[in-house]
Amino acid sequence: MGLDGGSIQFIQLTFPLMLTVGTAVIGSLQFGYNTGVINAPQKIIEAFYNQTWTDRHNENIPKTTMTTLWSLSVAIFSVGGIIGSFSVGLFHLFLMMGASWEMLISGRFVVGLYSGLSTGFVPMYVGEVAPTALRGALGTLHQLGIVIGILMAQIFGMDAIMGNATMWPFLLGFTFIPALLQCCLLPFCPESPRFLLIIRNEEDKAKAVLKKLRGMTDVSADMQEMKEESRQMMREKKVTIPELFRSPLYRQPIAIAIMLQLSQQLSGINAVFYYSTKIFEKAGVQQPVYATIGAGVVNTAFTVVSLFVVERAGRRSLHLLGLLGMAGSAVLMTIALALLEKYDWMSYMSIVAIFAFVAFFEIGPGPIPWFIVAELFSQGPRPSAFAVAGFSNWTANFIVGMCFQYVEELCGAYVFIIFTVFLLCFFVFTYFKVPETKGRTFDEISAGFRQAASGAEKHSPEELNYLGADSQL
Ligand code: GLC
Repeated sequence: MGLDGGSIQFIQLTFPLMLTVGTAVIGSLQFGYNTGVINAPQKIIEAFYNQTWTDRHNENIPKTTMTTLWSLSVAIFSVGGIIGSFSVGLFHLFLMMGASWEMLISGRFVVGLYSGLSTGFVPMYVGEVAPTALRGALGTLHQLGIVIGILMAQIFGMDAIMGNATMWPFLLGFTFIPALLQCCLLPFCPESPRFLLIIRNEEDKAKAVLKKLRGMTDVSADMQEMKEESRQMMREKKVTIPELFRSPLYRQPIAIAIMLQLSQQLSGINAVFYYSTKIFEKAGVQQPVYATIGAGVVNTAFTVVSLFVVERAGRRSLHLLGLLGMAGSAVLMTIALALLEKYDWMSYMSIVAIFAFVAFFEIGPGPIPWFIVAELFSQGPRPSAFAVAGFSNWTANFIVGMCFQYVEELCGAYVFIIFTVFLLCFFVFTYFKVPETKGRTFDEISAGFRQAASGAEKHSPEELNYLGADSQL
């Protein structure tokens, strides 16, 4: 259902609602924290790996082994994410920190699992408990939680706080505290009223929860809307993942959803959030950890900016602007790295380039892919589409995390050119294939795809049935 941004609605941000949403986005915060946490202490933890290696083998760790071990320590997080984003059920798992890289790597796998689950559950649960008028704003809190988590990790990673040889295990283990907090708060969070009504058919319970969340006794409008959704769901059957790819109805939107996820990750954003301290160090920056924190601050600030402009400027235009701006920044970064030997001040230019890269990311490619999936699909195929989108996102995240250091060793100053090429390809794709979804109802959006599909191919009787049912809405 489309939301008219201009309409004034009676909005109540009650305490139970804030508590519920706040508890859920601790999951986003954890995802962000564990994305950013291995950036600043890379050197210190590598020294620890070397020490362990020397104790075991009586020699220094070979450089290639170190690159492999560190890349794996970074990227195993996304392997957990791939599996987590595909799984159902709510788990709470804690990071075990200990005396070897085996434990560190297993710990990162486990927090990755949890983060993968969070990238699915948080937007879904928040969307389900939020009043319609607040759904967009509360929904974007997911990305805000992520960027605040990254920033926290960067600040805690300072030498004076926990980014030092004695404290780094606590830096990684800190994730335990929000997990504990979330465990204590979750029992106070209600079951989603939509789930209670639509899936469990427990109308009274759903009503009771709604009254609590909305802080008022008359919740008939909400109940009405949920019943409407329930009716719509009954008309439209659940679509499985293979069907998403087979049916001409969904082929185009699923291609768009996948490409947008890939554009988010292959833009190279996590090359920055996993490795910026090392990148800045190589670019001759004196205090690389502070530059990394700066990137986190810019990241957070521009996420807030995008919160305010996304309903006005539209998703398509912001995504295009973001991709192009990132491509330009990546070129600037390449120039800065290539000319570093000649001009000292190029190290400042590298800071400007990375800050701009991050700012443009949060204008479009950061937040938009997460929520556009819900807009591209109607109720029936939406859960399968979310699974495919999550899988694509985390797989690309893994590729960047795992390969960046190797590619950087190969290409040196020119490594960001690879991201520039990707960014430009995604720009062209978005320009030609991605429709604007702003201000259009879900129905209008899927009608657009149906028209395109019916022009191209004939439908099976099942699909015609679906079209017929849908057009009566
Ligand atoms: C998005 C990405 C995540 C990235 C973050 C940076 O949420 O999914 O991988 O680290 O933005 O802000």
